[in-house]
Amino acid sequence: MRAMNAPLNPRFPFLLHGGDYNPDQWRHVPGVLDEDFRLFPLAGINSVSVGIFSWTALEPEEGRYEFGWLDDVMDRCAARGMAVVLATPSGARPAWLAQKYPEVLRMNWPESVAPQRNLWSGRHNHCPTSPVYREKVRQIDEALAARYGRHPALAFWHLSNEYSGECRCPRCMATFRDWLRRKYDTLDELNHAWWTGFWSHAYTDWEQIERIDPCLEGLVVDWKRYVSDITADFVRWEAAAVRRHSPDVPITTNLMAFYDGLDYARIAREIDVVSWDAYPQYHERPGETEMLAAQFGLAHDYMRSLKPGKPFLLMESCPGPTNWYHHNRLLRPGQHRLKSIQAVAHGSDSVQYFQIRKGRGGAEKFHGAVIDHEGSERTRMFREVAQVGRDLEALRPVVGSLVPARVAIVFDRESDWAQKAAAGPCDAVKQHYFDTVGRHYRPYWKRGIPVDVVNGDAPLEGYDLVVAPNLFLLRDGFAERVERFVETGGTFVATWLTGVVGPTGLCFRGGFPGPLKKVLGVWAEETDYLYDDERNTIECAAGNALGLRGSFGTGTVCEVVHPEGAAVAATYGRDFYAGSPALTANRFGKGEAWYLATWGDDAFLDAFHGALAARRGLRRALEADLPEGVCANVREGEGGRRFVFVTNFASGPRAVDLGPAPRRSLLDGGAPVSGTVELPPFGVLALAEP
Ligand code: GLA
Ligand code: ZN
Repeated sequence: MRAMNAPLNPRFPFLLHGGDYNPDQWRHVPGVLDEDFRLFPLAGINSVSVGIFSWTALEPEEGRYEFGWLDDVMDRCAARGMAVVLATPSGARPAWLAQKYPEVLRMNWPESVAPQRNLWSGRHNHCPTSPVYREKVRQIDEALAARYGRHPALAFWHLSNEYSGECRCPRCMATFRDWLRRKYDTLDELNHAWWTGFWSHAYTDWEQIERIDPCLEGLVVDWKRYVSDITADFVRWEAAAVRRHSPDVPITTNLMAFYDGLDYARIAREIDVVSWDAYPQYHERPGETEMLAAQFGLAHDYMRSLKPGKPFLLMESCPGPTNWYHHNRLLRPGQHRLKSIQAVAHGSDSVQYFQIRKGRGGAEKFHGAVIDHEGSERTRMFREVAQVGRDLEALRPVVGSLVPARVAIVFDRESDWAQKAAAGPCDAVKQHYFDTVGRHYRPYWKRGIPVDVVNGDAPLEGYDLVVAPNLFLLRDGFAERVERFVETGGTFVATWLTGVVGPTGLCFRGGFPGPLKKVLGVWAEETDYLYDDERNTIECAAGNALGLRGSFGTGTVCEVVHPEGAAVAATYGRDFYAGSPALTANRFGKGEAWYLATWGDDAFLDAFHGALAARRGLRRALEADLPEGVCANVREGEGGRRFVFVTNFASGPRAVDLGPAPRRSLLDGGAPVSGTVELPPFGVLALAEP
């Protein structure tokens, strides 16, 4: 068990500040390395991530390794007490490798076309089951681990880069069939689970499963589970190679919260530390930065929650604009600091960038960097990075501290897949699952109430409140776990289109929300999907348990539900189902379970979740109402010591009431602060309780 407040790597007890660094691209340019190491301390950079795409620099031809340049970088870092995040290079492979062993490349093809192998190009283009690729990766990983596994500068292993994509070569399809055989044992079981009577799709021979036929949702979702498992297996393969020589250095891989091709819960099991790459495109248009801030708050919380009880690492973020958004607005002054502190506030023990020095060529030469083509410390972004460097130094006391969440929001990737794979029930909603979760998250974010984001198979004990918006697919045992949670005093919230299908996409019989009917005490009979410009109303019932009053808008999904034991807290105002329940509450054991039958508008969701939070007495980061655009976060260290972060995402100043008790302002040399303070646009505060 990790000690409370321990750094992720105890040898490096500071917040990491640095990021992707490619000195191998500059080996032929004299003076650049010296110049970089002159600039690092000026920017407060204490960490570099190296080797991420360096395979050809490390192994220019098969079996001949060149480590000299990397030795130099590692030793320079060690001499300065810097932390190196050392990558395995499997994210991009050398031309010689693909030329000699074409099987290392992926095969991808549309469902109806004969298989074709990708040409060597780009990156992330490998077949995960290729024995040759695995062997070559093992060799280079072991060579790196043997050489640097005990190097004093080595802080973390960074496996590959943003694992993603899939391969459908004959060998991968055969591996998938083996996976299916282990899962279902017999074709009868599989045919039943996938409902293959439909369009005469029954399989009579395992070999017939050679396409991911989109008309069978069960097949589609199983394929995605398999892709996650084979990717996790590849991660395990690389982790084992590294651990063989370097057993004590924590391993991470950089994830992408918004990527829907992998179930990250399966990947997180294989690594020691979660890290991810966050690219919020903040700018000054009123309202948009606040919206995005909540979305990235959710993403940080989702990533952090993959490894409960630990901080995470922000592995990449952009100093300045990226080169890949459709519009690349400049970050307004202060926004770089704002998004950096935001990550720390949500539990990150680092602020890392892509990238430290801009290359002169290649696909990322226009991507933001700490060191611009101009090359000096004179740029605006360099100065803003240096500010963050000073901030992170001042924030050392927060290293290892945790986010004390009593609320869990369920975000389940399998459910997302099942909903997207299903034809209907309504295309207008199913692409928006993450947004929907975000709309239920935002009321907590606004109030400074810490939230964990958990999977459908996560334990619920220890939370006061669990919110499962639009949980279309229920994992086996989920309903029973919810029943136990509510029976013993928990508050549970479910919404429309929840409990529709089981793990293989088969609709539940006996009425929705399926196995959750009992604990929720409702039956959702049918669903009205309104046109985008239509709304119904939510009329709060007199004397409802939350004290909600008045009338709200519904949003575009309206389920017609019947109470089966639950009390009605609000009803619809219009249409033939006027007067029928829009919101219900069911007492169940010592707790209660709420069902929201409609996609309420933001005002409703805010009132509803605000009232629930008050009813549960959820502690806020600051016991004060925060002005629009301001967020407060809390991390807890040794002995329950609280660190409070206040971030202003609004483009105007905001006054925040910190209450009478003085706290130390960590970013201002520890000065005591209390009472009302005015935060400038994009301003930040970090406060320590005495
Ligand atoms: C990703 C990758 C990096 C780089 C950045 C650019 O996060 O991991 O290698 O391509 O995007 O934003
Ligand atoms: Zn393959």
